[in-house]
Amino acid sequence: MQDFSINYRRLRANTHIRDLAAEVFLSHKEFIQPLFVDESLTERLASDVLTGVYSDTQESILTQIEADILRGVSKFLLFPVPTSRYTTDFQFDFATKTVARIKEKFGDTIWLACDLCLCSYTTHGHCGVLNTAETRILNTETCHILADYALELAKAGADCIAPSDMMDGRVGAIRQKLNKNGFDFVAIMSYSAKFASHFYGPFRDVCKSSPSKNENLRDRKTYQMDFRNGADALLSSLRDAAEGADILMVKPALPYLDILTKLKQQSALPIAVYHVSGEYAAIELMAKNGLIDADAAHLEVWTACKRAGASAIISYKARLAKQLIENN
Ligand code: PBG
Repeated sequence: MQDFSINYRRLRANTHIRDLAAEVFLSHKEFIQPLFVDESLTERLASDVLTGVYSDTQESILTQIEADILRGVSKFLLFPVPTSRYTTDFQFDFATKTVARIKEKFGDTIWLACDLCLCSYTTHGHCGVLNTAETRILNTETCHILADYALELAKAGADCIAPSDMMDGRVGAIRQKLNKNGFDFVAIMSYSAKFASHFYGPFRDVCKSSPSKNENLRDRKTYQMDFRNGADALLSSLRDAAEGADILMVKPALPYLDILTKLKQQSALPIAVYHVSGEYAAIELMAKNGLIDADAAHLEVWTACKRAGASAIISYKARLAKQLIENN
């Protein structure tokens, strides 16, 4: 009997034709490695949950970066974890000293973005300052503090400022502050589509940044996005672009690939995607239980992120990307 069905299996028949049909090839050059530097430590500490992730000291981070460079990593996203907590009069010396030490040692061989948020600085763990009744997070006041912080990081040598606080207008405030002070060359990677996600848990352990369970402010839902509302992610991202963001971001990754694809269609700016701590831990825990191959799963996730429209991938396994891609 003659078979008239349309045959797609010819394109899957062997590795040669599959390569020709593939739309996406990963490169280690598009990866950003997160780094944690914790002021309370005297020795680096391995994370229990995030395999291969460490909290470093200002000294040990230099060795970590050196090793990462040898593995083909050149872009980093720094999370400073200071010991002091504040409600006003924030001090950012630990973060700025960390940036300065890293850039003094490595200069332009690396690109250093620094996360910009107050959640590791505030006594209550929220990403902004509160009103006196402690019932609301104050937008304008927080933006002013963040813009000052951004300027200090730029002066210390940061190549990029990555605001993750989710206040309205912070990108504009930061851009103006940087430009007025001669730092127009410092880029802004905005966490422009950051959802109030349940996948940040392991990160908050590492950064000691969980919001305190004050009755009025139990979670981050008054500033991070409602995951039922995709339109907000587009509106806020386009707003951040108009305020001067150079790179937009979608975070977390897998549950939000629809947002990533839509944003790609609406903005010509490069988009980064953040495969966050909970998503990462899920893969690693499955692998620990013998259920999947972690490396293969990460490659699959990264490929999906790129296919959906990302041009930069923030992954806790970025330091293995080159090796995994080459051996694939
Ligand atoms: C700080 C910040 C968070 C993450 C990045 N920057 C946590 C949060 O918003 O609570 C999460 C990253 C991850 O889970 O890997 N605001």
